[in-house]
Amino acid sequence: MSSSARNNGQSFVSNSVITAIGTYVPARRLTNEDLAGMVDTNDEWIVQRTGIKERRVAEENEFTSDLIAGAVDNLVERYGSELSDVDYIIVATSTPDTIFPSVAATIQARFNIKQCGAIDIQAACAGFTAALQLANGLLLSGLYRKVLVLAADALTKITDYSDRTTCILFGDGAGAVLLELAGNGNGAMLGAYSDTEGDGGRHVYLSNLSASIGDYAIQTSGKLVQNGREVYRWAVSQVSEGVRELLQQCSLQPEDIDWFIPHNANQRIIDALCERVGFREEQALSSIAKYGNTSAASIPLALDDAVRDGRVKAGHTLLLHGFGGGLTQAGVVLRWQLP
Ligand code: UT7
Repeated sequence: MSSSARNNGQSFVSNSVITAIGTYVPARRLTNEDLAGMVDTNDEWIVQRTGIKERRVAEENEFTSDLIAGAVDNLVERYGSELSDVDYIIVATSTPDTIFPSVAATIQARFNIKQCGAIDIQAACAGFTAALQLANGLLLSGLYRKVLVLAADALTKITDYSDRTTCILFGDGAGAVLLELAGNGNGAMLGAYSDTEGDGGRHVYLSNLSASIGDYAIQTSGKLVQNGREVYRWAVSQVSEGVRELLQQCSLQPEDIDWFIPHNANQRIIDALCERVGFREEQALSSIAKYGNTSAASIPLALDDAVRDGRVKAGHTLLLHGFGGGLTQAGVVLRWQLP
């Protein structure tokens, strides 16, 4: 059974704009050759099946809040953004340093931001786009004016390095954007889409207090468990439907999108989504070869790579679409307004 939230084809009321972006990845690299020394795998299999060549790994004492602090520092350095008047912090993560305090509260203290709300949300690999939708709603409510949207995961800390079907996939990283009310009333968010299929939750999970999901008994190893084939099947069939529906709601065709930025889980999934939706493969942004699957951070990492090298330009129309654990998906269409 699935439940979904859509804007029913009504024109999307939007008055928010991304005014800055920053990213961070840890310095340490884990290559396919390194993994071949740890489990029964090889570079050829990993590249052919996933497109991944290497991923980054946080140090033992480096946690999600540290990765986010790196991304926020990068944002401030590049855009000179003022953080003292940020009035809400949303962190999307599945790997918080602690369940509580939230990572958002840790970041509030670290950057000494006075009088602001701070919450973590958990939508796995759909976290960044879900957080953008929520932040847009907070701005539209009129209650808040400047929201720091942060997405990060330190998946290597919950990866089972004896399981070759998962350990080759995951890496660590963080992204940060500032979302503000658009002064001219000319908002950048053109549409949003969400859909959830909770019945498939058992196909990718991390246990916590319960040893079951519904009546399905789960492993309680403290490590991420995934049935890759099931998640792959859902991603290609259901996420492609979601992307098509988002385009339809915005009255856009695939060729109207300058850049399609799906969650970077597997290059084959990205290619299959392009084929099913009707994007050319060159329209998709992927940084999976160098970062692997970084969960909530993968969309901002792929986006920021293209912002930095000038592929993404002001005026471009972007479709960002996260999907994963839940199983859940969240997409947004944005007009990029940064130079
Ligand atoms: O971000 C959260 C959402 N997650 C995803 O979107 C992940 C979606 N799933 C996937 O990306 C893919 O399913 C994987 C990359 C995880 C696996 O690729 P696959 O093409 O679905 O492989 P498979 O599981 O069907 O396995 C094919 C074969 C098996 O051997 P047999 O049974 O055919 O003899 C596996 O045992 O490949 C074997 N295999 C490996 N061989 C070498 C599995 N992992 C490895 C490995 N190295 N690392």
